[in-house]
Amino acid sequence: MKRLLLLNGPNINMLGQREKQIYGSFTLKDIEHDVQQTIQPYGYELDSFQSNSEGELIDRLHAANGQYEGIIFNPAAYTHTSIALHDAIKAIDTPVIEVHISNVHERESFRHQSITASACIGQIVGFGKKSYLLAALAFVK
Ligand code: DQA
Repeated sequence: MKRLLLLNGPNINMLGQREKQIYGSFTLKDIEHDVQQTIQPYGYELDSFQSNSEGELIDRLHAANGQYEGIIFNPAAYTHTSIALHDAIKAIDTPVIEVHISNVHERESFRHQSITASACIGQIVGFGKKSYLLAALAFVK
């Protein structure tokens, strides 16, 4: 069975409660469920990991090397700050697609730059929960 990894950074565990006017009322569990449903018909299975800690995300990227067809990654606020996550994505052979729920480009200027995106094969931004589903389809189709 082919596998994808869903990786989420800080505060994504708070979806459903945090800033609903920006992030909607769906939860991380809803995302996991919908991605799973999307990839299943293509013969894929999903693993999911969320952490609020940069080091844990780096360790999970390293451990994922060679284990997955692809990684769907929302680095959340670390997108805008983390050279270490950029380097971790570069350090592995597994392709990574960066996703964001909100359209970061219509928000505060500090969200306009992604340090991690240039290490990824692509970026999907601003489609709510569907950002994850579009990334999943890009891997499985
Ligand atoms: C986010 C956008 C980031 O700027 C923010 O820090 C998040 C979520 C998004 O999915 O829209 O936590 O990655």
